Amino acid sequence: MSAPLSGRRVLVSAGPTYEDIDPVRFLGNRSSGKMGFAIAAAARARGAEVVLVAGPVHLDTPDGVRRIDVRSAAQMHAAVVGALPADVYIGAAAVADFTPRQVSAHKIKKTAGSETLVLELVRTTDVLAEVAAHRQRPALVVGFAAETHDVERYARGKLASKRLDLIAANLVGAAEGGFERDDNTLHVYWDSGECRLGPASKHEVAAALVDLVARRLPA
Ligand code: CTP
Repeated sequence: MSAPLSGRRVLVSAGPTYEDIDPVRFLGNRSSGKMGFAIAAAARARGAEVVLVAGPVHLDTPDGVRRIDVRSAAQMHAAVVGALPADVYIGAAAVADFTPRQVSAHKIKKTAGSETLVLELVRTTDVLAEVAAHRQRPALVVGFAAETHDVERYARGKLASKRLDLIAANLVGAAEGGFERDDNTLHVYWDSGECRLGPASKHEVAAALVDLVARRLPA
């Protein structure tokens, strides 16, 4: 295989984050990490030096990839920013948008007579927007968007508001693909264009996305 990313450093985030509530409970999401891991493998296969920041997943590290394991959105933020500089950042992780204001040191108990429990959540740092605004901004910053409807409108909104170079959107909650599946379709948008990758296996779609990234990366 040719090595279009030889000499390039590619940083990928993958998987969910877990936001702890107390010592036995957390808020998580259904991201398997498969897409991000496939992207890391595809970038490595094209000659890149790859750093993969992974949330809690049950996946083997692709050959030749340096993996940093994290749990929470705050840890993902620290690990990603700590791994800069890079030529490319691909934010495939499903980072929690909210985290409990406080982690209870003790297991939260049911209280007699109370049928509800209120958890106060606060916004997490948007890792992707932060990387795109960083003084060591990668030449290409690629985001993901999971949408249930109006894919192009929401994806282009995120492309602009987070100052991304590319955004890869998938339609979730439909037959098309997304979480907990082995196949996927990505709708990729950039300033002056768009394309559809798939439907195909996550490995094929990841390879096509990395080829697109390699073509759009400034020389
Ligand atoms: N992302 C991030 N840090 C966060 C939240 C999201 O880096 N704290 C990144 C993800 O890695 C992904 C993209 O942002 O690349 C997803 O965008 P986001 O606005 O979080 O999408 P949704 O969560 O679907 O947002 P909304 O609920 O507004 O649709």
